[in-house]
Amino acid sequence: MLNRPRRNRNSPFIRDLVAETNLTPQDFVWPLFVIEGESRKEEISSLPGVYRRSIDQILECLPEAIDLGIRAIALFPAVDESKKDSMATESCNPDALNQRCVRAIRESYPELIVVTDVAMDPYSSDGHDGVVRDGKILNDESLEVLSQMALTQAQAGAQMVACSDMMDGRVQAIRETLDQNGFEDVLICSYCIKYASAFYGPFRDALDSAPKFGDKKTYQMDPRNSFEGLREIQLDEAEGADILMVKPGLPYLDVIKMTAEHSNLPVAAYHVSGELSMLKAAALNGWLDYDACLIESLTSLKRAGAKLIFTYAAVEASKLLRK
Ligand code: PBG
Repeated sequence: MLNRPRRNRNSPFIRDLVAETNLTPQDFVWPLFVIEGESRKEEISSLPGVYRRSIDQILECLPEAIDLGIRAIALFPAVDESKKDSMATESCNPDALNQRCVRAIRESYPELIVVTDVAMDPYSSDGHDGVVRDGKILNDESLEVLSQMALTQAQAGAQMVACSDMMDGRVQAIRETLDQNGFEDVLICSYCIKYASAFYGPFRDALDSAPKFGDKKTYQMDPRNSFEGLREIQLDEAEGADILMVKPGLPYLDVIKMTAEHSNLPVAAYHVSGELSMLKAAALNGWLDYDACLIESLTSLKRAGAKLIFTYAAVEASKLLRK
């Protein structure tokens, strides 16, 4: 036999030599949930092993992550119900939990890249990513709030803002506001192709941020479509995005690949809450080897074309990769 593909799989060293994909901690962005208070660390029931942490607890967990080689974290604040309103006013407060947390991290760990989320939902009494009027999610009215939100995050020290709201024109609006205020070096990671997905369930539990009425289908993309995403890619590139995200991850590997093939920008994938909770649930039942399935899942996102991978399991995975 001339051709024996198995020769290239013969030993661990050969397999390492021919491996096309090499997952490293430097690919990860570690999303963290922040809460008010001190010494608070609460497990999220639908995401075992993932916590909401007060700022001091976040500062405490970062050295290990940095030591493992993680370069970036993404912050998601849990906002008290009393601070939510229809205009998401709290999102633009320079002294809000999110902004305070960014400042504290930048002071203690100046090199770590802090990514902040730009969307109204955690602060909105309607639980939507944009301004709501008469049951409609208004696009252009939301851009003003999103731009101001991104600006206060940059002022607090965020080196990258990630707009997860899916309003039209938000990348350009944010870029202009940042530039006008001297933040031309702050990166914009656009949630470019974000689907209206049921896999966000545990995240909405974590932040108590589910929509109070309806769903997000008038702004997030329809899971039946992929080519529609080509238009989003073109627009986000033209509007000045630095990184393009596809979200969720595993159910949309085809879309990650399409994005990598159609854009020269780095592609990010978000291994979202529901994807991780499936693994956790199966593992708790003894039905899956969690460690192996986790690494396989994250490797698949990279193989499909993602360079950055947002994952709640960044620390766990980094430890496994070290072995
Ligand atoms: C909010 C936002 C969501 C996620 C990230 N940013 C939820 C949503 O759009 O409803 C989901 C992340 C996850 O499920 O892990 N704009």
